[in-house]
Amino acid sequence: MKAVQFSEYGGPEVLRLVEVDEPHAGPGEVRIAVRAAGVNGIDWKIRSGFMRQNMPLTLPAGTGRDAAGIVDEVGAGVRDVAVGDAVFGAGSATFAEYAVLTGWALMPVGLSFEEAAGYPVPVETANRILNQIGVQPGETLLVSGAAGGVGSAVLQFARQRGITVIGTASERNQPYLRSLGAVPTTYGPGLVERVRALAPNGVDAALDIAGSGVIPDLIALTGEPTKVLSIADFSAPQYGAQVSSNSQNAPVAFALAARLFTQGAFHLPVEKTFPLAEAAEAQKRSAEGHVTGRLVVTIA
Ligand SMILES: NC(=O)c1ccc[n+]([C@@H]2O[C@H](COP(=O)([O-])OP(=O)(O)OC[C@H]3O[C@@H](n4cnc5c(N)ncnc54)[C@H](OP(=O)(O)O)[C@@H]3O)[C@@H](O)[C@H]2O)c1
Repeated sequence: MKAVQFSEYGGPEVLRLVEVDEPHAGPGEVRIAVRAAGVNGIDWKIRSGFMRQNMPLTLPAGTGRDAAGIVDEVGAGVRDVAVGDAVFGAGSATFAEYAVLTGWALMPVGLSFEEAAGYPVPVETANRILNQIGVQPGETLLVSGAAGGVGSAVLQFARQRGITVIGTASERNQPYLRSLGAVPTTYGPGLVERVRALAPNGVDAALDIAGSGVIPDLIALTGEPTKVLSIADFSAPQYGAQVSSNSQNAPVAFALAARLFTQGAFHLPVEKTFPLAEAAEAQKRSAEGHVTGRLVVTIA
């Protein structure tokens, strides 16, 4: 089959479209014929070698962890899906014609493969960090870096929970944040003053999604380090704030996103799709850090 792989750590240019043996589903897994694969920050961080201490790889290695497609192998013990079902989920080496998933949900009617491929990492992360920060209905949450994949999912899940959200993005994404139900403001100098003007009674909790060095500002706004959680700034614990990095209950979050999509209450727009042969360009765009919604690689 065709797959995107890298044989050395480095920039996007190390990615190659190659012929490799097909993977197979082990116990508790499914294999899909991939129709589309979501692009995540973790993909370029692993490829560049940034994660090699915590996540050592045997090279050559595939890339990508999110995908949507048609189940064509069901591993021992899997009972909730059958060959021929359309699913989206998370696994490994998903920038390929076939990939093995370890967690999934059935695709709801009306959801495209392109959009579904963008769900797994953002919806698992959003559900996990909202649970971990413990923000309650009626409270106000600040989300720094709200216009990308994770931020877009957090805003919509928070709205479902009855939480008021103030989100930050660049000027051009202010209308986008408003369309997801958030009160938008820009990031950069003066953030604390802008948020205080929008929330005179303070914010109850804050999530740092972009990892842009704002932990002290977020602590100033919540008044309490333990009410601040980051997914991308590993200096957060130095200030007494939390970091969250391990996937939890992914299929529960996938099913939640599918259910909300069916109700018309969830949507992750795809900013751009790339053919498999242009996977390097997709990861380059992701690493630049200004995606609105999602980037997706499509498999013909
Ligand atoms: N720890 C975990 O479990 C976990 C899970 C998923 C993702 N992550 C990490 O979390 C980060 C975000 O992921 P993502 O998928 O949401 O990324 P993404 O889709 O690439 O979105 C990044 C967003 O950050 C915004 N941004 C850029 N500079 C900013 C700044 N200085 N202040 C505030 N926002 C800024 C951009 O908005 P504008 O275009 O408007 O500038 C863009 O919408 C990545 O580093 C990713 O690797 C961690």
